[in-house]
Amino acid sequence: MQKNELKQLVQQLPKAELHLHIEGTLEPALMWRLAKKHNIALPFSSVEAIQQAYQFNNLQSFLDLYYQGADVLRDEDDFFELMWAYLSKCHEQNIVHVEVMFDPQTHTTRDIGYDVFMPGFAKAIEKAKAELDMSAYLILSFLRHMSEDSAIETLEQAKPYYSMISAVGLDSSELGNPPSKFQRVFAQSAALGFNLVAHAGEEGPPEYIWEAINLLKVDRIDHGVRSSEDPKLMTYLKEQQIPLTVCPLSNLKLCVVDDISQHNIVELLHDGLLVMVNSDDPSYFGGYLNENFYALIDKLSLSSQDIVALASNSITASFLPENEKQHWLNKIQEITSN
Ligand code: ADE
Ligand code: ZN
Repeated sequence: MQKNELKQLVQQLPKAELHLHIEGTLEPALMWRLAKKHNIALPFSSVEAIQQAYQFNNLQSFLDLYYQGADVLRDEDDFFELMWAYLSKCHEQNIVHVEVMFDPQTHTTRDIGYDVFMPGFAKAIEKAKAELDMSAYLILSFLRHMSEDSAIETLEQAKPYYSMISAVGLDSSELGNPPSKFQRVFAQSAALGFNLVAHAGEEGPPEYIWEAINLLKVDRIDHGVRSSEDPKLMTYLKEQQIPLTVCPLSNLKLCVVDDISQHNIVELLHDGLLVMVNSDDPSYFGGYLNENFYALIDKLSLSSQDIVALASNSITASFLPENEKQHWLNKIQEITSN
């Protein structure tokens, strides 16, 4: 298949997105408008100047801008707009199910509580269910640069909203903040019945991936691209089919890889690991889910079978009930057998 046909296939296939930070979908134009609305002085002279500032040399240089950007999110409507804009984009890209991370501590540390952001998210998710025929789950993510006590408090504060949350996660500055720091709060989250995910092996070493598996008992690893440095880990991930939610453009923008042509996602897939494509923070990294696929198609030799496998893996690795997974897998099969 030609590259343009492969891109059409990406658009046609129903897909799930499993690694997405809602705060990372804040487009410069919305940031600008919300700053005006709330009378917040931004350190940028225009929307274009915001865009131009998005040059990063590692995870931390991105996180500094990302937390600063999130400061324009102040009221329930802002959180609704943010979520609705993302879900509308998903609909355009034929993404039928999403599992969206949100960082409560980014907001509670600014005195913006769950009672502000959760109703905003809920309204957008309900509207998407009704109008776009898509499902969205929420993943409460703890900031790993903060203490475990703060994470425990964050979990407790979420109590009135537990029924809206399907998993807990772990994000922010990885190096120096290993998964072992969050063992208690993950055990508490598991006891409450939440699914578990954690960022590991983005910048951090394979040992962090082992810790996330053995100490936090996660169901999925976010990123995990450094697994390929540890053959025993590769075998384990393959045997256990522990999903890795890989984010190619994120890895490029944060200098985890120098070029997409050097990305290991195709090797991970061909080695039998349960990997799929995600966008992480699309507004900051230059593309939503389909643009991540397009970048792979442009720079790597990806076959139509690879694309179908990646789309199928996104459904298989989701927290959807089995009957809904089967429904979407059948749809993929129908499309590919025509
Ligand atoms: N928060 C938002 N995006 C992130 C990433 N790629 N890694 C860690 N924390 C994040
Ligand atoms: Zn992430």
